[in-house]
Amino acid sequence: MEDHPERRVPRSAIVPADDHRPRHVAVIMDGNGRWARERGLPRIEGHRRGAQSVRRVVKACADAHIRYLTLYAFSTENWRRPPGEVRALMELLERFLKERLGDLKKHRIRLNAIGDLERLPASVRQTLDRVCRATSSYTEGVLTLALSYGGRAEIATAVRRIAREVRAGRLDPDRIDENTVTAHLDTAGLPDPDLIIRTSGEMRLSNFLLWQASYAELWVTSTYWPDFTEQEFFRAIDDYSRRRRRFGGVADA
Ligand code: IPE
Ligand code: IPE
Ligand code: MG
Repeated sequence: MEDHPERRVPRSAIVPADDHRPRHVAVIMDGNGRWARERGLPRIEGHRRGAQSVRRVVKACADAHIRYLTLYAFSTENWRRPPGEVRALMELLERFLKERLGDLKKHRIRLNAIGDLERLPASVRQTLDRVCRATSSYTEGVLTLALSYGGRAEIATAVRRIAREVRAGRLDPDRIDENTVTAHLDTAGLPDPDLIIRTSGEMRLSNFLLWQASYAELWVTSTYWPDFTEQEFFRAIDDYSRRRRRFGGVADA
């Protein structure tokens, strides 16, 4: 089995200047199952190896001073998977949270979670709460895990929250605008993602950050998530830094 020791690359060589660096990177971590299948291993082995890629990317973000990292770890649709795989994923998640608390403290990163967390097993929820609380005062970075997350479900929940405020007389329906919606999403307080990376070559969002991704730059690699390295992450950042974001306007002359 090949391994990816963390290779040391001088930061100045790979990290673009502040104004070209993404503030918020979001990752659709895909391809664990195919990685395992191609090696004749059970799918869960791919998920296990994928957890090591998470560790690499969290560190790469800290090294590159990218403040916000959001990882799509489990979608609302992923509940449809065989119960054995779901159970194994939940166990891995809980173990990951326990084992990575030290790294989060070391890099002073706050853990945050978005999605329908009520659906998670009680022990995962408790561990998640504990790690979120233990890191709540850190301000160097924010690691957001999207768990039992779906963009459409998130928007529907935001609409319900807004409707309740209207019913309670606290909000005038004529004053509802884009900012109101943004403020009622699970991601309230986070900037929109500047860059969305997807591994395993699929060219779709799979219900990830539908509202927030409206002007995100997309970067897709055919690499399976367990093989995703720090170097490839920096390649995505470098590629991002060369793009011209026009937001519907006209490019500078
Ligand atoms: C991503 O890998 C992990 C999750 C969605 C939980 P997959 O499990 O989707 O891997 P593939 O797409 O089947 O290869
Ligand atoms: C997207 O991957 C969800 C996560 C990475 C958690 P999937 O493997 O579930 O997406 P599809 O089914 O290929 O669209
Ligand atoms: Mg997949």
